[in-house]
Amino acid sequence: MKKIFLTGASSGIGRATAEALARGGHEVWGTSRNPSRVPALPNMHAVGLDLLDRGAIADAFGRAWDEAGGFDVVINNAGSGHFGPAEVLAEETLHNQFQLLVFGPLQICQLALRAMREQERGLIINVTSLASRLPVPFTAAYNAAKAAMASFTMTMQLELGDSPIRIVDLQPGDISTEFNDAVVKDASGDPRYNPRMESAWRVVDRNMKHAPKPAVVAERIVGLINEVDPPPRATVGDTFESVVAPMIFSVLPPRLRVWGLRRYYGI
Ligand SMILES: NC(=O)c1ccc[n+]([C@@H]2O[C@H](COP(=O)([O-])OP(=O)(O)OC[C@H]3O[C@@H](n4cnc5c(N)ncnc54)[C@H](OP(=O)(O)O)[C@@H]3O)[C@@H](O)[C@H]2O)c1
Repeated sequence: MKKIFLTGASSGIGRATAEALARGGHEVWGTSRNPSRVPALPNMHAVGLDLLDRGAIADAFGRAWDEAGGFDVVINNAGSGHFGPAEVLAEETLHNQFQLLVFGPLQICQLALRAMREQERGLIINVTSLASRLPVPFTAAYNAAKAAMASFTMTMQLELGDSPIRIVDLQPGDISTEFNDAVVKDASGDPRYNPRMESAWRVVDRNMKHAPKPAVVAERIVGLINEVDPPPRATVGDTFESVVAPMIFSVLPPRLRVWGLRRYYGI
């Protein structure tokens, strides 16, 4: 039985993961801005946490750590998106996306690493996204934040050397969750963007509707937790989207990458 801290346990990937872990006999401290949304299960502890409230993160994590007597696994999963043209992206929006997807999770990573050093073991899983490598149009802040978190994660892997503490970058492709319902959409303010925004959103929406269920990510996370030597980076989702497409994309010249993505999103 492992003790696990999991952000965003109230919905989608986090909720499916919380349920799978609790079913597997693990004890989970699951977070939500509204703790009553965390599934009420025998091995679950609901933790209130708003990652946009920078000053509250250390306290929420510290209290959960003390209550648990230490965590074997910390999973940075909570997140939400924004949709609108980069040209008119408000500084506040950009800042909020980075607070939610980079500064907050990074703070949790640092707190977890320091505490795990004392106990000389631990696993951190950062749920980033394939969008860190294959950007989705009109979600520049989200793509950039996920790429930043993926880069931080890899840099920490280098710096940790032969430490027994492991850190994994888990990159899902499209997964059918409530993610799109929570996306904040900006009007472009520029009619030239409108047809391209509509076309891109149609593809984003269609992909989400046909995507695998969050249980596939939960299963992958349970697998990573049980692995003796988890990989530094793992992808999960539809096989074409999460394995074939990134492989092809990585060998294409930059001009073809931009052309291919524009065609894919009909823009
Ligand atoms: N779905 C996909 O296609 C997909 C693909 C790649 C990566 N991901 C990543 O997977 C993670 C989970 O996404 P999901 O698809 O499961 O989305 P979801 O169903 O919308 O769940 C998002 C979770 O994040 C929490 N959250 C949102 N804003 C928060 C805030 N300000 N502070 C603290 N928690 C907050 C929510 O909790 P409350 O609202 O209860 O606070 C909820 O539990 C995200 O990091 C997302 O970027 C998703």
